Amino acid sequence: MADERKLATILFADLAGSTALADEQDPERTRARLERFYDAMAAEIRVAGGTVEKFAGDAVMAAFGAPEALEDHAERALHTAFAMQRRLEAGLALRIGVNTGEVVVGGARENSSFVSGDAVNVAARLERAAASGEVLAGERTAAAARGAFEFGAPRTVEAKGKPGGVACRPVLRALSLMRPRGTGRVFVGRDGELERLWRAYRRSVDRAAAVLVTVVGDAGVGKTRVMRELWQQLATQEPEPLRRTGRCLPYGDGITFWPLAEALKEHLAILESDPPEEVRRRLGNREILGLTLGLDVAGDLHPLAARDRLHAAWVDFVMEQASQRPVVLLIEDVHWAEPPLLELLERLARDVRAPLLLLATARPDFARSWDARVDAETILLEPLSGDVATSLVEELADQLPPDVRDVIVRRAEGNPFFVEELIQLANEDGVAIPDSVQAVLAARIDLLGEAEKAALQAAAVIGRAFWTGPVYELVGEHWPDLATLESRDFIRRRHTSSLEGEVEYVFKHALTREVAYNGLTKARRARLHADFAGWLEGVGGEHAALLAYHYAEAVRPEDVDVAWPDGGDELELLEAKAVTWLSRAAEAAMSRYELQDAVALLDRAIPLTDDKARLWRRIARAHALNYDGDALMHAFERALELTEDERQRSETYAELAFESGLRSGMWRRRPPEHVVDEWTSRALAHVRRERVPRR
Ligand SMILES: Nc1ncnc2c1ncn2[C@@H]1O[C@H](COP(=O)(O)OP(=O)(O)OP(=O)(O)O)[C@@H](O)[C@H]1O
Ligand SMILES: [Mg+2]
Repeated sequence: MADERKLATILFADLAGSTALADEQDPERTRARLERFYDAMAAEIRVAGGTVEKFAGDAVMAAFGAPEALEDHAERALHTAFAMQRRLEAGLALRIGVNTGEVVVGGARENSSFVSGDAVNVAARLERAAASGEVLAGERTAAAARGAFEFGAPRTVEAKGKPGGVACRPVLRALSLMRPRGTGRVFVGRDGELERLWRAYRRSVDRAAAVLVTVVGDAGVGKTRVMRELWQQLATQEPEPLRRTGRCLPYGDGITFWPLAEALKEHLAILESDPPEEVRRRLGNREILGLTLGLDVAGDLHPLAARDRLHAAWVDFVMEQASQRPVVLLIEDVHWAEPPLLELLERLARDVRAPLLLLATARPDFARSWDARVDAETILLEPLSGDVATSLVEELADQLPPDVRDVIVRRAEGNPFFVEELIQLANEDGVAIPDSVQAVLAARIDLLGEAEKAALQAAAVIGRAFWTGPVYELVGEHWPDLATLESRDFIRRRHTSSLEGEVEYVFKHALTREVAYNGLTKARRARLHADFAGWLEGVGGEHAALLAYHYAEAVRPEDVDVAWPDGGDELELLEAKAVTWLSRAAEAAMSRYELQDAVALLDRAIPLTDDKARLWRRIARAHALNYDGDALMHAFERALELTEDERQRSETYAELAFESGLRSGMWRRRPPEHVVDEWTSRALAHVRRERVPRR
């Protein structure tokens, strides 16, 4: 696996006072106890989707969100921390540190970890600072899991290399599985979708039959929210329909029928704390439904027979309910559903002959097509339109200045979850991607197969719009199927192409592109930029600006040490190309009178070449065209400082004199005449000297 950058949460746990334990006991017994401890801890970590990174002594390190990204990495790590505490044998206690940050994931060498980064060191530091039995979380973890846990007062822990120490909070208790979203105060748009849901409900009532509606849309686009609105509308109906909800979980043991179990428990008022006998009593003569709840009620039945009975019992049960009043059953997040649940839902939709509206929400990763005999429809929830999104931002963030609100509308591109998260961040930084958004998008990207993910990353390097030819070229040995990226709604095909003979696609969402790009190591980004630029140069045509951008990105001075650690001819060649294309693109920009662009392009080229003086002179010319005397003067001064070459110097003076004469209006204060004379004579001095030997 190639190295990747990830946003992850790292957990360190260490047995407090375990040396005492070792002292007192027979070494064989200590070892057995430690083995049991390791096994139990590893089991808790794995069931929550974490990866055990290593055991060292009595300490355990685990990563959540690496190697595979997880949208709720922080919540999972904290839930695991508590689960680990609960699993301990009597007499043992753990100190736990949890911290979130960017890490690099790579193939582990012997004795080293597969994740690395400052976040890992800080997690270890927090573990050492935690009291026995305590869980300490870094600030970024606490922010990511805000609302899902209760935290104690902030604290600062000293750490090497951190002058201000590390801010953290003790974690007191869990409140919910995942961080709750939004305030739900405002609701905008979605009239058409609500109307369609409403009609589906009416159809199920009028026909006294099951209707299945699947609402499909991106993470955060508002599926759950639209359902909540529908819920409220349904509450006003006469007779009031019975409404039940359940949610598929992304991880856990024995969760196949979880959503139906939730609905059933709510319906029968079964509590988490009820003993199995009580649950059986409430199920009455429908004991087989207990399979849904994880009860062992199948006895000696063949598994297939048990399944058939379970299906029949559910159909029966729902029919009975629905013949009293309409039933609306919502199953959330079926993209996480396991096949047995989907089969059961399909069975309900097919066989219930009474008013049942069966609703499912799913992200575009959900690839099931329902049985053709089912009255099923799919509603695609598209992003909010520009106006509607603007009004949402206005409602939620009227305290923010209009230009910041505009940036939020633009960056969120109609996704209300992104809107909410960007508003949270708005006071800090206009361009960063909120951790929450990053995590959701990265997790979806990591669900892709290796080839498709590589293609998405290569495309991300090319840009928001990209062409298939170079993508195939860049991913090398992979054979990606772009149709998958399309069907999961990451990318959309354009009807026309800006590059002749090439099929053009765009990222549906710019933030997806950014997150895919951010997942690449700097070294990989540089390589892909260079490869794409090479490809583009090969196809010919007029692409100076694109070539300039990609060559320059390939050799960013601030990253060149990690991107091209061996330096050498290849780097030199790329730098030379970057300078060439930046200069050409600047020329083109100047001819269009895009003078600031021209200056920016030339600025980028300066650190990449030894011939800086020449570039400064061109920058000066751009400033002259822009009638900016001060900037021009500064640029000429730099040009003069940077060259010893007499000829270049005299040419520079000549230009200076010429420009100042030609555009006298550009000076805030005109240079005095004797200074201009001085420039002229310096320009001429060289010319005279040059002519002397020829006489
Ligand atoms: N039409 C809307 N008006 C105002 N706020 C909205 C609207 N739609 C969604 N939101 C808000 O945006 C956030 C994300 O919406 P929601 O949770 O419904 O997304 P989702 O599609 O269910 O995402 P996921 O796939 O992650 O479950 C929520 O806080 C929600 O209240
Ligand atoms: Mg949802």
